[in-house]
This record gives sequence, structure tokens and C-alpha cells, in this order.
Amino acid sequence: MKILSIVGARPNFMKIKPIYDEFKSRNIEQILVHTGQHYDENMSRVFFEDLELPKPDVFLGIGSGTHGVQTGAMMSKIEEVLSREKPDLTLVVGDVNSTLAGAISSIKMQVPVAHVESGYRSFDMRMPEEINRILVDRISQLLFAPTEDAVKNLISEGIEKKRIFFVGNIMVETLISHLEKSKKSKILDNLSLEKENYGILTIHRAENTSDTNKLIEIFKVLNNLDNKIIVPLHPRTRKVLSDIGYLEKLGNNIKIIEPQGYLDFLALMSNSKFVLTDSGGIQEEALMLDIPCITLRENTERIVTLKNGANILVGTDGIKLTKAIESLPKIKIKYPKPPLWDDKVSKRIADIIMEQKELLVL
Ligand code: UD1
Repeated sequence: MKILSIVGARPNFMKIKPIYDEFKSRNIEQILVHTGQHYDENMSRVFFEDLELPKPDVFLGIGSGTHGVQTGAMMSKIEEVLSREKPDLTLVVGDVNSTLAGAISSIKMQVPVAHVESGYRSFDMRMPEEINRILVDRISQLLFAPTEDAVKNLISEGIEKKRIFFVGNIMVETLISHLEKSKKSKILDNLSLEKENYGILTIHRAENTSDTNKLIEIFKVLNNLDNKIIVPLHPRTRKVLSDIGYLEKLGNNIKIIEPQGYLDFLALMSNSKFVLTDSGGIQEEALMLDIPCITLRENTERIVTLKNGANILVGTDGIKLTKAIESLPKIKIKYPKPPLWDDKVSKRIADIIMEQKELLVL
């Protein structure tokens, strides 16, 4: 069997790592394609290095653009790769534009698609990721779901049950296998941080960065906190804050840094007191690390993280955010972990691909 895996944006890289290794250990022929959706050194290359992923076999160099420009450019290049490589299966992960482009191009060329992290739904069609998730799931032949809720979502959309496999959370497998290594990171020393004495903020989602009032409302709350807040800043958020001259107006407790690699970010997060984010994956990583999370969105597709108060949704409402920060636990809580969020997810995925060949016939 020959499998073509497609990645492109930062949150894809940690999801492909254990799958790539598992296929390799089984001598499965595989081609790794990087669309180039993320191209900055610290949004892409450092992840390949930290995760010890090999250089992609194919790099498409697509870069940024509107959704149509970016996705269309990816599709036309992916088509060329599929014609050349003729894989038996395309594997895509997550919900970014590279995931969508990979899935559509493949199925149109009659190459079956496997989707890892299938079935998450925020039920918010304003999010580009929600559109990507729904479309990719609808055209995939093998759907690998991270949670029982995700399985239910797929069934309620009429997807055949025999194609849905509850395998657990692939990002958790990567987290477990890199936690020890992340302890060697020097990032806390470099930033003069004390363990459990600071918060982390990541904010980059289109719905938050397109409205500067939302960004300012969040920072107004954070500027007045006693806690130090470390902000690894996504290039787009940096541009927006810089354009409105707000980078100079941040409180002294706010420290803006470059986006971090996988190991340094894991070190930062696992030693923090709390995490504020609008990312999807970080909500899950925080739960696994027992770090309380406040999510700067009105909804989440990761509803399993909301159990036991491990994750609180506040949107961008300053009052809700202040209350959520005040309500953070004073002592560290060990949150119950969802089933199958373990170190065997890639093994389950590879077993199913090998055993369910009849589902790959279109
Ligand atoms: C993408 C994903 C999002 C994910 C995020 C992680 C989609 C629809 N969204 O959003 O789900 O959470 O990645 O980071 O696929 N830019 C750079 N350097 C880079 C990449 C981007 O400067 O290496 C800037 C460019 O100005 C670009 C903007 O960031 O226009 C947005 O990049 P894009 O890939 O379109 O989406 P993200 O916001 O990164």
C-alpha cells in the first residue's frame, strides 16, 4: 500500500508525526507532502526539527492568500502530485485549508481519503475550519474520530457507521512522547520565568483578529493583571496590533515573543499557571497537562475539554474573562482524561487502514 499524507499548517505537523513513524515501522510506502501554507521558520521548519520529522518528499510552496486563492493553488498542485505518485490512499489531518485541498483533490482523482481528527463540530459556520471539517468528513472513506462526541456528530450527519472509527486523539500521542524531551527546554530561563507564576496567551483566529475592538478588550483585561502573561504572537495578530499602534500600549506584565517551536511551547505551557487561547489543539493539550484553560471563543468543537471546568469559554467579553481568571483554581487539579487519549492512537489508525481495505474501494 502506498499512502500520501498531506500537511501544511502548524497544527498539522504534530498530528502527522506519530502516524508517519507508525507507517515507517510497518514498512508502508509513504509520501509526505507539505503544501507550504505555513512557511515562516518558526511556523513550520522548527516543528519538523523538534518532532524529528523528515524533510517532506514534496514541498508545494503555496504560501498565504485568500481562502479561494490558497485552496485553489493547493488543489492544482496536489492534483499533479497525485497523478505522478498514484497512491492507494491520501491521509489528511485536522481542519486547515491544506486538509480541505488534499481531500477534494484526492477524491476527484478517485483516490480514497482518510481523515484524522474527524467529527469535531463547533456548529459555527462563520469559522473556516468548521467548513473544512464538514466538507472533508463528507468525502472521506475512513473517518478517525478523537472522541465519542465526534462519532455522534458524524452519525447524525448520515455518515455510514462502518466508516467511522473511534481511535482517540492523535495530538495527545505526540504530547506524551515529547513531554520528557520538552523538560530540557531553556525557554523558562531565557524569559526569566518562575514555574506556575505566569499565564500564556495565544490568539490568532480570523474571528478575533478581524475585529480590533475584540483584541483590545482582551488586552485591556490582561494589562491590569498582577500575573505575567507570555504571548507567542502569530504573524497575523502581530500585524493587526502593530497596524493600530497597540503593541506599544501593552501593559508591562505582557511579554510578546515570537511563535515558539513544539518543545519550547510545551515547556512553556506545562509550567504555566493558566492558558488563554483561541486555538483548538491548545485546549486539548492544556487538559492533558492539567493546566486550566480559558478559551477566547463563543464555542468550541472540543466539547470534551469543558467537562469538570478544565476549559471555560468566555468569547472576547472582558467581564466574562475577568470572572474566569478570578475563578481559576488556586491549587493544581488533576482533571479526568477522555478515553483513548493515549499513546496508541497511531497504532489503531494503521491497524484499521490495513484491515479495512474494502472500504477504500470507491
Ligand atoms: C491556519 C488555520 C487555523 C490554524 C492556524 C494555526 C486555516 C483556514 N486556518 O490559520 O485553523 O489554527 O493555521 O496557526 O487553514 N502568515 C505568516 N507566516 C506563515 C503563515 C502565515 O506570516 O508562515 C500570515 C500571513 O499573513 C497569512 C496569515 O498569517 O496571510 C494567515 O495565514 P493562513 O495560513 O491563511 O491561516 P492561519 O491564520 O495561520
